[in-house]
Amino acid sequence: MTCVHAVLSPPEISDLRSVDLGGTVCVVFDVLRATSSIVTGIAHGVHRIFPAETIEEAREIKATHPEALLGGERKGERIAGFDIGNSPAEYCELKGREIITTTTNGTFALRACERAKAILPGSLLNIGGLAATVAELAPENLLLVCAGTGRGFAMEDAIGAGALIERLPRSGLELSDAARAVLNLHRFYAGDLLSALSTSKNGRALARIGKTRDIEWCAQVSVYPEVGCMADGMITIHRG
Ligand code: MLT
Repeated sequence: MTCVHAVLSPPEISDLRSVDLGGTVCVVFDVLRATSSIVTGIAHGVHRIFPAETIEEAREIKATHPEALLGGERKGERIAGFDIGNSPAEYCELKGREIITTTTNGTFALRACERAKAILPGSLLNIGGLAATVAELAPENLLLVCAGTGRGFAMEDAIGAGALIERLPRSGLELSDAARAVLNLHRFYAGDLLSALSTSKNGRALARIGKTRDIEWCAQVSVYPEVGCMADGMITIHRG
C-alpha cells in the first residue's frame, strides 16, 4: 500500500524540514518552470544540477565547482551575472555540463525534501517515466510537493501532481484529500493543459515578460523518458 499525499503551498513545504521523510518518496513539481527546466537538462545529458536556495548559496557552490554554469531566475528573469536563466530551452545544449540553479520556489521546494528516501524533480515532460519510476520504487509514502508561486498555491503544479497519480497503478494506492483534489483538478484540465498553464497566475506573469514559448514547452506531456533524482544536494539521471 502506498499512501499518497500532496502539499500545496510554500508554508506547508517549509514544514517538511521538521518531518521524518525517511520512508517517503517526494516528487517536486514546479511546472512553470524550475523542475521542467531541470528535467529538460537531465534529458539532454546535463551531468549534474545543484539546486541552491539563494543566490549567495549558488555562488558558494560555484566557488567549489568553478566549471559549473550559474542558472536560475528572480522575478522570472535571469539573475545578473549568471550564465543562463530558467527557460527550458536554455538547458538543452549543455550535455556533460554541471549547472547550479536557484529559483524563487522550485529549488527551495527541492531542498526542503532533502532528507526523503528519494527526491524526483517532477514535470509533465516526463510524467510517464516518473510514474514508472514511482511504481518501481513502490514507496510506503508518496509525497507530491507542489512548489507554488510566491507564497501561494500554483494550479500548474497541482495539475502535474494529479497527472502523476492518474498514471500510477490504481490498486494499492491510498489517496489523502489533497491527493484526490489534485487528481480531480488534473482530470478537469487534462484536455487542454496549455490553456490551463497559460491562464495560471505564473503563466500570465511569464507571458507578460515574453516567455510564452516556455509555457508551451512545459505543457508538453511525456516527451522525455528520462527521470532525474536528487541525492547529496545534486540532481543526476535516475538509473533504476
Ligand atoms: C520558481 O522556482 O518559482 C519558478 O520556476 C519561477 C519561474 O521560472 O519564473
